Amino acid sequence: MPPRRIVILTGAGVSAESGVPTFRGPDGLWEGHRVEDVATPQAFRRDPVLVQRFYDARRAALAAVQPNAAHRALARLDALWPGELLLVTQNVDDLHDRAGSARMLHMHGELKSAWCTACDRRHPWEGGLLDAPPCPACGLAGHLRPDIVWFGEMPYHMDRIEAALLAADLFVSIGTSGNVYPAAGFVDLARHAGARCIELNLDPSMTSGRFHDSRLGPAGALVPQLVDELLG
Ligand code: APR
Repeated sequence: MPPRRIVILTGAGVSAESGVPTFRGPDGLWEGHRVEDVATPQAFRRDPVLVQRFYDARRAALAAVQPNAAHRALARLDALWPGELLLVTQNVDDLHDRAGSARMLHMHGELKSAWCTACDRRHPWEGGLLDAPPCPACGLAGHLRPDIVWFGEMPYHMDRIEAALLAADLFVSIGTSGNVYPAAGFVDLARHAGARCIELNLDPSMTSGRFHDSRLGPAGALVPQLVDELLG
């Protein structure tokens, strides 16, 4: 029987062909920084200027990149798939959004969102945060931080994601190294619940052995191929 309920997980690899750097490159650095220097709440407390500058640069860099064939294929699947579908991305870029995916959750937050730690509200954000702009809701300056889930913080939307995984009959993981939990454990949850599990990745990941089918290659080629298979 063809699958009806699909959950798709994406990671940095889906945006690599757009020119967005992945996290775990050969030098172990992310844009010249150790992850713990820019992606933890402790780092933000210790050196807010460094962290704000880092994310301001990542946010500004989005203007120079475009969705690629993998983002577009997933948006096509979203538009045409008659059954349930949920795309869960670990990526904080907006390339799935710009490609047109609608049934989608950003589990690690978004570069183009700012979170006010004074009034706990979130705002669409295009510019920088380094110069401590006031919160559009409460007016207090200096309390906006990147709306990004850092190491040690709780990913967003976990209830909805887990419910979808438990109901899925197909789980697809694309372009993620399987180093970071809870996302790296989604395959176990889905598989245990009876879903067929397919991985698409450039290299074998930490979790390749847990999938029924692991296909190696660039997302820009493998994702359109899988979407064509699914849409028949
Ligand atoms: N097509 C498919 N896969 C690719 C491509 C490509 N063109 N290029 C790279 N990859 C694969 C790599 O082989 C690697 O396995 O994408 C994966 C990217 O892995 P990471 O850099 O570890 O990124 P990701 O898995 O998304 O990281 C998870 O870690 O730092 C945190 O919160 C951050 O969301 C991020 C999380």
